Amino acid sequence: MATVLVTGGNGYIGSHTVISLSENGYDVIIADNLINSKMEVQNRLEKITGKRFKFYKADCCDEAAMRRIFEENSIDSVIHFAGLKAVGESVKIPLDYYQNNIVSMITVARLMKEFDVRKLVFSSSATVYGMSEDVPFTEESPLGVCTNPYGWTKWMLEQVLKDFAKANPEMKICLLRYFNPVGAHESGLIGEDPRGIPNNLFPYISKVAGGTLDCLTVFGDDYDTPDGTCLRDYIHVVDLADGHVKAIDYLDKTDDCVSVFNIGTGKGTSVKEAVAAFEKACGHEIKHVFGPRRPGDIAVCYASTDKAYRLLGFKARYNIDDMCTSCWKWQSMNPEGLSD
Ligand code: NAD
Ligand code: UD1
Repeated sequence: MATVLVTGGNGYIGSHTVISLSENGYDVIIADNLINSKMEVQNRLEKITGKRFKFYKADCCDEAAMRRIFEENSIDSVIHFAGLKAVGESVKIPLDYYQNNIVSMITVARLMKEFDVRKLVFSSSATVYGMSEDVPFTEESPLGVCTNPYGWTKWMLEQVLKDFAKANPEMKICLLRYFNPVGAHESGLIGEDPRGIPNNLFPYISKVAGGTLDCLTVFGDDYDTPDGTCLRDYIHVVDLADGHVKAIDYLDKTDDCVSVFNIGTGKGTSVKEAVAAFEKACGHEIKHVFGPRRPGDIAVCYASTDKAYRLLGFKARYNIDDMCTSCWKWQSMNPEGLSD
């Protein structure tokens, strides 16, 4: 059974991916420093899968701690989720973002080379396309100018990994550019569990629906879109998790050192449509008001999904209603999130 080291595997996307890997016959080892997740996730994963995963509380920037993991296990591939991801926070504490996101990836890459682990999947983001609105974004669309340090860390790490692969052609690296991951596992046991007041749309709507927050502000209704609100390509986190399994499988077959894939649905959903879908899922109104545009937002962002379908066989199974239903189940079952 091939063993995958999942860094950041206690987090939102990582924990869902651990389930998909396990369901597809992979052995999983998790490394996470718990900076943005709770240990309770491991209990929930055990409830869902019936397995207790090997867990290391380790910072991926700590070379000695990470070396121990490579020494103690026979690792076949790595999925690197570990990173800080809050856009607004990255503007306030840029050095922490550059330090954590860049150094963690470089540390893991160095150890992969040292221990001859050749397959890597890296969590990139549609944010690397910058402020362009030349949709749909294909993997060949030019990379843009990012509007915040978080985005730049993804942009820079894509370059770092391309250079790493060029110098080490035995490496097989897959860069997955996620669009907007939302939703939760069907069990309602794991989901997105942000600390403090959420910045992203779905966690915010969930809290308004659950009564913890009073009212959603829709950022701008004067965009050049059918209903005036921004369009995004929301993808169910369970679909996204499956995309990682397909990427790992693909790295066994490809001769390319670096492969890049968008992971989205190819469909744009407006903020108004997202609110309406959530109202349907939770069965009551989501109080919302219209406010000014949020600086840095683009009107429209959605993926071309052709390449992922052609080469990975990846196609999203879930629609916006499924995303809202699962989000609401998670929110209802865990109104305060998970305990420490
Ligand atoms: P998350 O914060 O829920 O998960 C990240 C996990 O990594 C957390 O458990 C955190 O404790 C851990 N972590 C952070 N720094 C670490 C370090 N130095 N060492 C060990 N563990 C560390 O975030 P997520 O939404 O699951 O995102 C996973 C990855 O996907 C991130 O790299 C993120 O930037 C990227 N991504 C996320 C989105 C999104 O909308 N959620 C979109 C595009 C890309
Ligand atoms: C944001 C980040 C992106 C990151 C992604 C996932 C920016 C500019 N982009 O994407 O880099 O990869 O999160 O973490 O921050 N909205 C409201 N009211 C709210 C919250 C959001 O109307 O309270 C709207 C936004 O204007 C946007 C849409 O909802 O049109 C989605 O927003 P969000 O969930 O924050 O994702 P993105 O902005 O697409």
